[in-house]
Amino acid sequence: MIQNSEPTALPVAPATDISESQKSVGQGQLFNGFFEHPQDWNLRKDQLIDGRARRVFDLMGRACEAGVYPFQLPLETRQGPWVQAEGNKLLMLSSYDYLGLIGDPRIDAAAIEGIRKYGTGSGGARLLTGTLDLHKMMERDLAAFKGAPEVLTFSSGYLANLAVIAGLFSAQDRVVMDALCHRSVVDACKMAGVQVQRFKHNDMDSLRHEIANGPAANRTLIISDGVFSMDGDICPLADLVQIKKDTNTYLMIDDSHALGVLGKGGHGVDELFGIPTNEIDIWTGSFAKAVPSNGGWVAGSQQLLIFLQHAASPFIFSAALSPSSVSVVREALRIMWTEPERYVRLHDNANFLRGGLQELGYDTGLSETPIIPVNFESEEHCAFAAAMLRSMGVGATPILFPAVPLGSARLRLCVTAAHTKDDLQFALDAFKKLRE
Ligand SMILES: Cc1ncc(COP(=O)(O)O)c(C=O)c1O
Repeated sequence: MIQNSEPTALPVAPATDISESQKSVGQGQLFNGFFEHPQDWNLRKDQLIDGRARRVFDLMGRACEAGVYPFQLPLETRQGPWVQAEGNKLLMLSSYDYLGLIGDPRIDAAAIEGIRKYGTGSGGARLLTGTLDLHKMMERDLAAFKGAPEVLTFSSGYLANLAVIAGLFSAQDRVVMDALCHRSVVDACKMAGVQVQRFKHNDMDSLRHEIANGPAANRTLIISDGVFSMDGDICPLADLVQIKKDTNTYLMIDDSHALGVLGKGGHGVDELFGIPTNEIDIWTGSFAKAVPSNGGWVAGSQQLLIFLQHAASPFIFSAALSPSSVSVVREALRIMWTEPERYVRLHDNANFLRGGLQELGYDTGLSETPIIPVNFESEEHCAFAAAMLRSMGVGATPILFPAVPLGSARLRLCVTAAHTKDDLQFALDAFKKLRE
């Protein structure tokens, strides 16, 4: 029963302003002393945190001890070419904000307008009460931009991959994926229980070999990223389409890092190679890269998307995108249609930084896009390099195992259209000092 009584004072949450702490994030400030005393991680297999945690704790403990823990640096400002962290100005060189649209006043205004008209939440899952007319308009906008018959959207790119793979495929089917496909594709296949084979990265002979030598399956789906998120190279789309036709299989492309990046109009990897969009059976992507929002999308035939609306768990059991996120997607797409000069600036910047790094003797791997890996011989070297760069005012994210195979640690740089040549020269000067 609800009692009418005098309101009592609510408990006050303790202040947790981590900037007051003496330690830096590099020294493990975020872990409240967890790594302070070296421990023998006696983790048994019947413990909640079992032996698998030993490697993580050892590695992170050593990083904190050396003052080079490289992750989770809380930014005190919005994303952009320059940010502030721990009170210091930092050149941001690892953000996915490829077109430099985070903080664009038109984008901010769109988010605010979305809240003004529709409020902050969507109130439920898309299939039930969460669909706004705004979601439908966004899906029509993206279908037009991508040149696909229909689009369906989800709360993240990760969920879009999960939705389509687990919604369509099961143990009687198989997926043949590029060895460097994104983790969301790998996880989705596990959830689907589909048979999985991997072909060597961008190696079409290996793909043909896997298709010819796999287990029996009702359907076979080839999966590749359009642009590979760790290496910054591009899939050979024409060959993938040819192989799909030759082998009577289906093709899915995750275009998360290509939408708004590749092609003269930023339409993605299909535009870059001049391949009709509908030659690919399933497209997926994220709204948290060139589009500065949140969310994920699947593009394909009407039949595919009507089926997914009634079979894909993330559409049925997870809340719909918030109105402000949706408004931002729509405004970003409008800008992407009308400001193609952003793509030119983006690639010009990427070429400048990549060329400069190579001149300094760095190994930038296979990069041919604004994603530029800088490879290091060990995880320790990589973490130290990140810490030294940070001390020189450059923020560059290290990518370590398990995001990449053991022994292939790298800094993963991402150039944006908002960087100036002076910004990039500042980064090159820091990399030069690092080398010295
Ligand atoms: C290739 C690829 N696919 C999917 C995702 C997941 O996207 P989201 O961050 O929207 O969940 C990412 C994220 O980094 C990605 O790189």
